[in-house]
Amino acid sequence: MGERKVALITGGTRGIGKEIAMELARNGFDIAANYRTKTDDMDEMQKQIETEGARCFFVQADVANFDSCKQMVETVEKEFGKIDVLVNNAGITKDGLIMRMKQEDFEAVIDVNLVGTFNVTKHAIPYMMKRHSGRIINISSVVGIAGNAGQTNYSASKAGIIGFTKSLAKEVASRNILVNAVAPGFIDTDMTKVLSDNVKEGIYAQIPLKRMGSSNEVAKVVKFLAGEDSTYITGQVLNVDGGMI
Ligand code: NAI
Repeated sequence: MGERKVALITGGTRGIGKEIAMELARNGFDIAANYRTKTDDMDEMQKQIETEGARCFFVQADVANFDSCKQMVETVEKEFGKIDVLVNNAGITKDGLIMRMKQEDFEAVIDVNLVGTFNVTKHAIPYMMKRHSGRIINISSVVGIAGNAGQTNYSASKAGIIGFTKSLAKEVASRNILVNAVAPGFIDTDMTKVLSDNVKEGIYAQIPLKRMGSSNEVAKVVKFLAGEDSTYITGQVLNVDGGMI
């Protein structure tokens, strides 16, 4: 087996991000999992990843903070000597119809989801450029493509990620850095647990597969984009949405 690869996953200790970390660990990656605040189950996660024969390194940072992202990338580069794959997964929602949406709720979502994606990428890219190799996978959302009432902030951030992905793909292709996005539909995580049964029923009606997706069904697509079976794909958005769009 060749040298192990290294993946940095933002928001990597919960939900979809944790599942991406586990899936990549099972497939030859050492893991740098970013978190904002420590949680109790991180010890258990570390054990699970080490059982897969991979290294697990936790790194604290608020992705909305530019300097904190610089430190995070430098820490991971120092620890592993490289970052082969960056997964920009950290994200939040602060839903509300525009009439009631506060300015700070709009800005907070843009700051974490879109500016956060820029902040981490900005610091990771010089290392990838120098190595003439790298993958960046940004987690967008179907609502960034189709829109959703009550989520102007979130949809704008996720649509922004798509524009960012396509532009960066063109900028860095000559250095053998591939940049793609994944747009999940409704995935069963903490983010969607808060929805009422009524809202969930309404959502199922829009999904041809008539169910929510699992975090692992997203993680497997990220693994594809991080691996050796996708070497001629860049600037794309892969929908993982049960046929919604
Ligand atoms: P989650 O709420 O379970 O996890 C989000 C993760 O991001 C957490 O680990 C959280 O600590 C981290 N995070 C939040 N703000 C942060 C910050 N400022 N700095 C560092 N980390 C921060 O949510 P879930 O569902 O796992 O979402 C992961 C990604 O997938 C997000 O970008 C979300 O927008 C996206 N997504 C989720 C969908 C769903 O149905 N669950 C659908 C489409 C996209």
